[in-house]
Amino acid sequence: DIAPPATMFIFGASGDLTKRLLMPALYNLAVEKLLNAHFSVVGVDHIARSEQDYRDYLDSTVPGLIAGHSNAPEKIDSAAWSWLVERCGYVSGDFEDEDTYRRLADRIAAIAAADGHANAVFYLAVAPRFFGPVVDHLGKAGLLKETPDGFRRIVIEKPFGTDLTSAQALDAALLRDTTEKQIYRIDHFLGKETVQNVMALRFGNGIFEPIWNREYIDHVQITAAETVTVEARGRFYDATGALRDMVPNHMFQLLSMVAMEPPNSFDADAVRTEKAKVVEAIRRYSPEEALKWSVRGQYRAGDIDGRVVSDFTSEPDVSPDSTTETYVALKYMIDNWRWSGVPFYIRTGKALSVRRTEIAIQFKRAPSVLFRDTPTGTLEPNLLVIHVQPDEGISLRFAAKVPGRKVKLSKVDMDFRYSDYFRAEPSTGYETLIYDCLIGDATLFQRADNIEAGWAAVQSLIDATAGGHGDIHPYAAGSSGPEAADELIGRDGFSWLPLRGRI
Ligand code: BG6
Repeated sequence: DIAPPATMFIFGASGDLTKRLLMPALYNLAVEKLLNAHFSVVGVDHIARSEQDYRDYLDSTVPGLIAGHSNAPEKIDSAAWSWLVERCGYVSGDFEDEDTYRRLADRIAAIAAADGHANAVFYLAVAPRFFGPVVDHLGKAGLLKETPDGFRRIVIEKPFGTDLTSAQALDAALLRDTTEKQIYRIDHFLGKETVQNVMALRFGNGIFEPIWNREYIDHVQITAAETVTVEARGRFYDATGALRDMVPNHMFQLLSMVAMEPPNSFDADAVRTEKAKVVEAIRRYSPEEALKWSVRGQYRAGDIDGRVVSDFTSEPDVSPDSTTETYVALKYMIDNWRWSGVPFYIRTGKALSVRRTEIAIQFKRAPSVLFRDTPTGTLEPNLLVIHVQPDEGISLRFAAKVPGRKVKLSKVDMDFRYSDYFRAEPSTGYETLIYDCLIGDATLFQRADNIEAGWAAVQSLIDATAGGHGDIHPYAAGSSGPEAADELIGRDGFSWLPLRGRI
């Protein structure tokens, strides 16, 4: 269905997010003809330039970037691109200057007079320190008041604070002149098809949910391994670290998808309430427990597939004596009826041997009475792996008899790959999120309580490691992370899935 008419005001009109992801995503939506004839974009930025200059800037930068996304076609659809660029305008102004917002109000009024709608999405593609001030100014200028002919929505993207207190302060600032329903907090992991597919797998099939609990599941491993280093983000990353950057947001999104109870419907609040409940049920560790059940690592020089990497501490804009973690492994317990006693292990890091995001569900072993004397000894547990990226799909490991006269079992894998069944659409991962915001479906966006529950679950580790406390285990770039992480999961008698190709 075509989205309703709307104007998308992009604060940070000349930034990276806008040119690399937002404009390419809007282009893909234009190709799919999902944008309204009265859709338009207004870039907002401090650079003084004319509307035509902005269109020329987009024209010279974005088409080249569209090609870099997954499944991008060889040739750009020039009709769709022109359609989009013609709808782009520009307002120059400082984000902290009242006049800027007066000009935005004039623009909305002009669009209302010409196109008959006053729907506005304010997309804050800006540094997080501007979230509060921009929303404050929008509120003071009366731009956040909804009317029958005009919805008003704000889109922001992580980081949502740097700990529980700052996240609560940000939410309070956002909600001063708006209601929760007007705020769309993006966690781009929810734009990933495979993440959305977890709900389809669990609730659209009859065979999984009956065994999706502590009776049958031994433990769960959630991995987001990256081969990239901090690259040009040294300043941000040194102040942030792997825990804050990935765990309370992306990793907990994956955890909630796997662990939440079935919602009553796909209604945004039904889904988000179940997700908040499961994150709230994550055991709150004391600082001592938080240290005991976590391992933090930092990469040292190494080689990733022939690419030479230097120590994290000698990366640009990283302090030479930094104790920031670039890897973290954690064990969590979810204290609710379904998951009591089932550990959830999480690991994520940069400069590792492979890029893999996956969720592995390990089931309890079958009793080995029948196969006690087979050469393989104990039976291998069944393993269901959801491959989030790359090679999206799902595989199931089970035991089969090795042909021959002796009874011998071997593990085999049943493997579903998306690409074998479906033709994937060109995608940046932002298409669904932008479209959903335009149609007012907040299911894939984070509510304030989701964000705060995520921070609350990691807060004791943040506190315990503040000021450089706690061990940092070095690991070589291109390895699978620090050995201490193997010991962490090994204490419970388990081991991580190897960090190489698919199981
Ligand atoms: C971002 C983090 O939110 O997610 C990055 O700030 C990380 O550090 C990225 O690399 C991972 O996203 P993806 O889509 O590449 O898995």
